[in-house]
Amino acid sequence: MDNKYNFDEIVSHLKNSGFVYQGSEIYGGLSNSWDFGILGSWLKKNIKDLWWKEFIERSPYNVGIDSAILMNTKTWEASGHIKGFADAMVDCKECKGRFRADNMIEEATGLSAEGKTPEEMDKMIEDNHIVCPVCGKHNFTSARSFNLMFKTYIGTLEDAKSVVYLRPETAQGIFVNFNNVARTSRKKIPFGIGQIGKSFRNEITPGNFIFRIREFEQMELEFFCQPGTDLEWYRYWVDYCYNFVKRLGIDENKLRIREHAQEELAFYSKGTSDIEYAFPFTDWGEVWGIADRTDYDLKQHSEYSGKELSYLDPETHEKYIPYCVEPSVGVERLFLMICCDAYDKEMVGENDERVVMHFHPAIAPVTVCVCPLVKKLAEPATKLFEDLSQEFHCEYDATGTIGKRYRRNDAIGTPFCITYDFDTENDGCVTVRERDSMNQERVKITDLKDYIKDRIKF
Ligand code: GAP
Repeated sequence: MDNKYNFDEIVSHLKNSGFVYQGSEIYGGLSNSWDFGILGSWLKKNIKDLWWKEFIERSPYNVGIDSAILMNTKTWEASGHIKGFADAMVDCKECKGRFRADNMIEEATGLSAEGKTPEEMDKMIEDNHIVCPVCGKHNFTSARSFNLMFKTYIGTLEDAKSVVYLRPETAQGIFVNFNNVARTSRKKIPFGIGQIGKSFRNEITPGNFIFRIREFEQMELEFFCQPGTDLEWYRYWVDYCYNFVKRLGIDENKLRIREHAQEELAFYSKGTSDIEYAFPFTDWGEVWGIADRTDYDLKQHSEYSGKELSYLDPETHEKYIPYCVEPSVGVERLFLMICCDAYDKEMVGENDERVVMHFHPAIAPVTVCVCPLVKKLAEPATKLFEDLSQEFHCEYDATGTIGKRYRRNDAIGTPFCITYDFDTENDGCVTVRERDSMNQERVKITDLKDYIKDRIKF
């Protein structure tokens, strides 16, 4: 897909305007680690708040929890992560490049290597005479399996008994709490449990800025339903997630839902779809995964813990292990999609160019910027700023011409600039300038909060 702007340009805008900083920068950085700056942390917070509102608060079905990052190691035995959460990697003996074997095979041949053993991947590399994507030579090490979980130790002894893992997904913290939530919420099936939190994966090939990183946040929902109703709920949640993205104003020409083919599905899954976005660095990149996981996880944890994780229907008295549909998304992935989609440059008049981030007003890092026309009006403008700050994230900007202040705010995606001028003293109105249309209108200060609230609705 043709992208209007190249990725480097967008990344450099995000770095230069304080959305994202290089992690540990003063020490020369740490590869592929990123810190979120002033605007970035606001944007991230707003994305998470919106997800929580739409998936937990406004949902008649769902509740939220916040489980620990470090979990009993048996969790990861039960979930299959200790045995199977691994990627195979190969090294090019010529240029020393390191690659994920499945990605390299897929890119070179279009064949899926999902679920193949390292030996099977070696054979595919040989049979198809795949060459190194960097140097073009065909001289690889054998594929080696590499577990993606970060290992650490609990307590003072660094022995096998004290090994714990940083969770590679938040989902398992939900499954192990199934009984606790069912007991303390009095929720009836169908119901979902959601959470937002950090996950860690020692990715072999992180990159594309914050697209694939080793420390990231996930927003996951595990939705439990009666077996047999799962495919219906699976479609419900695919639509729900797609609508969430659509309502954010993301260009639908750059969005698609990709249903996984039968041979791509995990053995326990009855259906999986990815919501993908046409990022500027690739054709399509996964943003959100929605999977029908059947009763796999609860069954596994039941078996490994010896605790029954089932549901007794209070009306029919039927007892069963619920099926689970899981919509799972990374905060940084959504963040990156939102920024790539929002970034724009346009000419204003003959020779004035503006960069503008077309964020949906509900998630823009700054909602309102209050600008006194001249410094003399600082006192009443500050009062207005303080009053609006009770309800919205506001900035106060009194530096430079009004035009310059508008440009600064366009570049960070502030949807409204409010100018307090000399007429305000007489008519009680301010000028509200809208970011995308650049239209200006006079609005009574007494109506201002409702005016803004109305326009930032999701
Ligand atoms: N519980 C299911 C699960 O974790 P996943 O497809 O591995 O499934 C879900 O991850 C989502 O988490 C992805 O669609 C992506 O948005 C995000 N994600 C996964 N790995 C990531 C990484 N290394 N960096 C950033 N985001 C990641």
